[in-house]
Amino acid sequence: MSSGGFLHRLLLKLPPETAHNLALAAIRRGLVRVDLRDSEGLGQTLFGVHFPNPVGLAAGFDKNGVAAGRWSDLGFGFAEIGTVTQNAQPGNPKPRLFRLPREGALINRMGFNNDGADRVASRLKESRERRIPIGVNLGKSKTTPLEEAASDYAYSFGRLSALADYVAINVSSPNTPGLRSLQGREALFEIVAGLRASDPDKPLFVKVAPDLTLGELDDVVAVAHDARLTGLIATNTTVDRSMLNRDPAIEGGLSGRPVAELASLTLQYLAQSCEPELVLIGVGGIFDGDDIHRRIALGAHLCQIYTGWVYQGPGAIARMIGELAERLRREGIPSLDRLRRSSLPLP
Ligand SMILES: Cc1cc2nc3c(=O)[nH]c(=O)nc-3n(C[C@H](O)[C@H](O)[C@H](O)COP(=O)(O)O)c2cc1C
Repeated sequence: MSSGGFLHRLLLKLPPETAHNLALAAIRRGLVRVDLRDSEGLGQTLFGVHFPNPVGLAAGFDKNGVAAGRWSDLGFGFAEIGTVTQNAQPGNPKPRLFRLPREGALINRMGFNNDGADRVASRLKESRERRIPIGVNLGKSKTTPLEEAASDYAYSFGRLSALADYVAINVSSPNTPGLRSLQGREALFEIVAGLRASDPDKPLFVKVAPDLTLGELDDVVAVAHDARLTGLIATNTTVDRSMLNRDPAIEGGLSGRPVAELASLTLQYLAQSCEPELVLIGVGGIFDGDDIHRRIALGAHLCQIYTGWVYQGPGAIARMIGELAERLRREGIPSLDRLRRSSLPLP
């Protein structure tokens, strides 16, 4: 365990949302730093943006961008702020975040609690110089009807896109009623085409659920092609509980180890179905360097982590990156490009 081991163990004894708020406050103040010793050969330039290493902070931890300038202190190679919606909103009633420690999992039904696009935009404008790329993840406000979703996303995009290295469209959270239906071909195309029209060059991603059928994934791939998406993020949390020995009967999205297989299968299917130029971000149940290695071999360009980091503490990202670098050296793989897609079956 890292030097922050004692404090981290203490945090895991507190109620999950309290622990989250304390950790975020400490990171924001610059009180948590780790030493990233070994990331040689892990840098990449993708869609014109340089990523010093392939491991990013997944959306949902820094929903309001309060620590946007700090995530490199923890060893991350990029960070995704949000989900941000057009309107500020409180999210669902508490408790809304639950630990399943034996499973290495969390269940959350936060419901997009966030300060809204205007406030997050002013905060990002003021944030200090950044050392890593920052993505902004956008969702739909709870009070906006589904038929008007495109205008909600367009409003937030107008406020935030210039402040972000890439924008991610979140249509896959299980905690906003009906949101996942926006992954359907027509609805998704309407949202993405609207954003493309307002800024044709902004790198644009769509984040998908791990619960889509292959036919539904085909629709997402078709939209990615038709609307010239930069890439896809696979995956969000799952509503499936069939992989658990015991269903804890807690409503919300399940993350961490139990989602790893679904997330990997989704990533693999997308990698096999889309043009190799499409940038894929693998997320869901990543806990160590071998997990990152596997996702890249399945076609990911970048990875993101949330639950594995929460359970393993501040030193986890530097450790995973070190493990990945060491394994690549051992296997004689000189760059991530050479690893990527290496475990996909030949076309
Ligand atoms: C407490 C919590 C809040 C989350 N909030 C968001 C969010 O606001 N937007 C989003 O796109 N994903 C959100 N996610 C999903 C994560 O970004 C990630 O896709 C998912 O947890 C799988 O990765 P993991 O197994 O490493 O946690 C959240 C996850 C957790 C655990």
